Amino acid sequence: MSKIEVKKIIKAIETSDGAGVKLKRSIGTPEADYIDPFLMLDEFGSENKEDYLAGFPPHPHRGIETVTYMLHGEFEHEDSTGSKGKMEPGDVQWMKTGRGIIHSEMPAMTGGKLLGFQLWINMPAKFKKNKPEYLYIKGKELGVHKDDEKLVKIIAGKYEKAEGPQTNHNVEPIYFHIVLNEKKEFKCKIPEGHNSFIYLLRGELQIGEKEHNKTSDSNLIILEKGNRLTVKANKKTEFLFIAGKPIGEPIARGGPFVMNTKAEILEAIQDYNNGTFAKY
Ligand code: FE2
Repeated sequence: MSKIEVKKIIKAIETSDGAGVKLKRSIGTPEADYIDPFLMLDEFGSENKEDYLAGFPPHPHRGIETVTYMLHGEFEHEDSTGSKGKMEPGDVQWMKTGRGIIHSEMPAMTGGKLLGFQLWINMPAKFKKNKPEYLYIKGKELGVHKDDEKLVKIIAGKYEKAEGPQTNHNVEPIYFHIVLNEKKEFKCKIPEGHNSFIYLLRGELQIGEKEHNKTSDSNLIILEKGNRLTVKANKKTEFLFIAGKPIGEPIARGGPFVMNTKAEILEAIQDYNNGTFAKY
């Protein structure tokens, strides 16, 4: 049994993606390129519609899982498997792209506040050529633990008696959205070999037993390995806690494609160009 401590605190970088949607990227940056199995974490959103209305027009993915979690706003989704859906606040879209999916994510709103997260999880080599799988999870289907000290929404994994809606995942992921009241503690156990991190939305946390730098909003807090997490809220704090089993394979990135070798990236580009990419 070992206590989890802070490894590194990183401020998210402001950037844009899709057709110019403003976002804050924390994983998939020079300072945190890959936290195996996590390839990317984006916080997208703004109160200004000009920052998001152009959306994410059709684009491909191969070899990864994309997990989108909406907190404010509405997005419409359409993909090459024929799936179509509208994401509302609290909803999750978990896409295991496997050999290839082409999709679009466009705002279904004309103004107001948008806030959401997109996490990319790598897929083990043996699943990268699988048929795509698309999980659409309504907010009310998430596991929920609530007591006087905290609210824990469970997108994946288990906390106390509450469990995420899907248990059939590749990397034993844990994905919690937590609101912790002032001076209260959140404790949980995770498998010893998992990599984990906290993404702070608002507030301030004391993590583990060692002293660490003060955290601020939109900070990625990469954690050391261990199996017991203890965090204390210096004031009312909202954060994501995410963990997963490392895959331990080489990675080759090519924008929306993540494979094991450069040759497989070239193959993905070829498949996309000759129209065989999304044939299942
Ligand atoms: Fe996408």
